[in-house]
Amino acid sequence: TRRVTIRDLQAAKAAGDRWPMLTAYDYSTAGVFDNAGVPVLLVGDSAANVVYGYDTTVPVTVDELLPLVRGVVRGAKRALVIADLPFGTYQASPQQALDTAARFLKEGGAHAVKLEGGARLAPQVELLTSAGIPVMAHLGLTPQSVNTLSGYRVQGRGDDAGHRLIEDALALQEAGAFAVVLEVVPADLAKKVTHELRIPTVGIGAGVECDAQVLVWQDMAGLRVEGKPAKFVKQYADLAAVLTGAAQTFASEVQSGVYPGAEHSYH
Ligand code: KIV
Ligand code: NA
Repeated sequence: TRRVTIRDLQAAKAAGDRWPMLTAYDYSTAGVFDNAGVPVLLVGDSAANVVYGYDTTVPVTVDELLPLVRGVVRGAKRALVIADLPFGTYQASPQQALDTAARFLKEGGAHAVKLEGGARLAPQVELLTSAGIPVMAHLGLTPQSVNTLSGYRVQGRGDDAGHRLIEDALALQEAGAFAVVLEVVPADLAKKVTHELRIPTVGIGAGVECDAQVLVWQDMAGLRVEGKPAKFVKQYADLAAVLTGAAQTFASEVQSGVYPGAEHSYH
């Protein structure tokens, strides 16, 4: 089986085929999702939250994300693996973005990168793309900007904000982005952007009209440690309950001497 390419994803848009994307942060889950047929895996900077336990994605570093990318790339035989560029490692200049992105490809083995921001980031997207690094853009609720956005709220509401988002998406497409994530924007705006662009839109909290959908895998599978999931999350499993039950049963079987049984012992 050959690796999924950005060309496949763009062909899917032309054919009207929707595709799923999940985050992954290690070898084992990447292998599971790859075997399940998920064509695109994102090593999101959401690792800040779900792997490292930070409150926001702002503090996570390249050195923290790179080892996760290596694991995911080894686990994914078919999926395209995209690495998120962390906050503060690409905004200063196209050169800075290229230096960071190149590390994710050379040292991490990623096939593409993702960065947050609108038209202002077009020079970064243009340099990376021309240097041979596919770029997925990310608009709407961009969590790295939580401090200027004043919290995690719906973006692109109202005519002005909606127009700005469409202009940003078009600028990023012109700069060479191969796809764009739309996070927590009104469904009718996401639909409009999806129709305006020839590159795929990947929605998260952006309605059903996007070309693709992405979720953080722990949200998708019900492995939240604390807090209430966002409105856009659908839980397809209750892994927290499954793992809690497994850990409790293991603990009680150890305490009672039921585990290990004769069949788990070497004679
Ligand atoms: O970091 C992440 O998980 C993301 C996706 C939710 C789009 O950026
Ligand atoms: Na991210």
